[in-house]
Amino acid sequence: MVEKFREWSMNIAILTSGGDAPGMNRVIETLSKRANIAFLEGVKGLYEIIELPTFISFHAFDIEVQDKIINNLKDIDYLVVIGGNGSLEFTNLLIKRGVKALFIPATIDNDIPNMESIGFDSALNSAIEAIDKISDSALSHNRIFLVEVMGNKSSAIAKALSLATGYRCINDDIEIEHIENSSEILIIPESLKALNRYSKVLSSKMSKEVKIISLGHIQRGGAPTARDRILAAKYANKALENISTNSLGIVKI
Ligand code: F6P
Repeated sequence: MVEKFREWSMNIAILTSGGDAPGMNRVIETLSKRANIAFLEGVKGLYEIIELPTFISFHAFDIEVQDKIINNLKDIDYLVVIGGNGSLEFTNLLIKRGVKALFIPATIDNDIPNMESIGFDSALNSAIEAIDKISDSALSHNRIFLVEVMGNKSSAIAKALSLATGYRCINDDIEIEHIENSSEILIIPESLKALNRYSKVLSSKMSKEVKIISLGHIQRGGAPTARDRILAAKYANKALENISTNSLGIVKI
């Protein structure tokens, strides 16, 4: 199989765009063992190959930008895009314009419908580790903690974290109104954009101090879990198979 791909001497470009996610590198590693690769730094990198000095503003969905990107890709046989929702939209747009492109989901937000995204499991495990630590203090001091977890428009981490730890995930303003004076950890999805507001609501009706923690980017970093490494390898291998059969679009494993 490896030799077959080497014989092809294909120019495969890999594009990682949007937020980084643990496990993305495993995809690149797997693909790079089997084909000629052009590494590009995000969608902007696709554009800047020839236009860096005159670069002022950049909108990946502008027609002139697309034209240049497509021109830059003329010697590329296949483009493999690794990323989230925006990257999927961009992949579909390129395919419509005749570019041979594949898409592999990698976002800690895990919000590509019907697919498991690379990075989600690692981010979830980082969040679980953090909650375990916070719970030691929450229980020993009888305090209430609001812990915000990432997810731009997605509550995937928050919901899975709630199941994994047994702590409540807050879904809306009504739920926060009903919290009684207690010592517990409440998981707040970032997508609600309500951490400070909820803190004020709770502080005004409770005798105890309310602690707020936003886990932030620690969820995006660190070593990928075994599950994410395996997932990444599976997506990469399937992408190679899709290239061999000339398939386009989402890589399904
Ligand atoms: O899409 C991944 C993500 O980590 C979201 O969960 C979060 O809202 C966003 O990216 C943060 O983006 P940035 O690193 O640009 O602040």
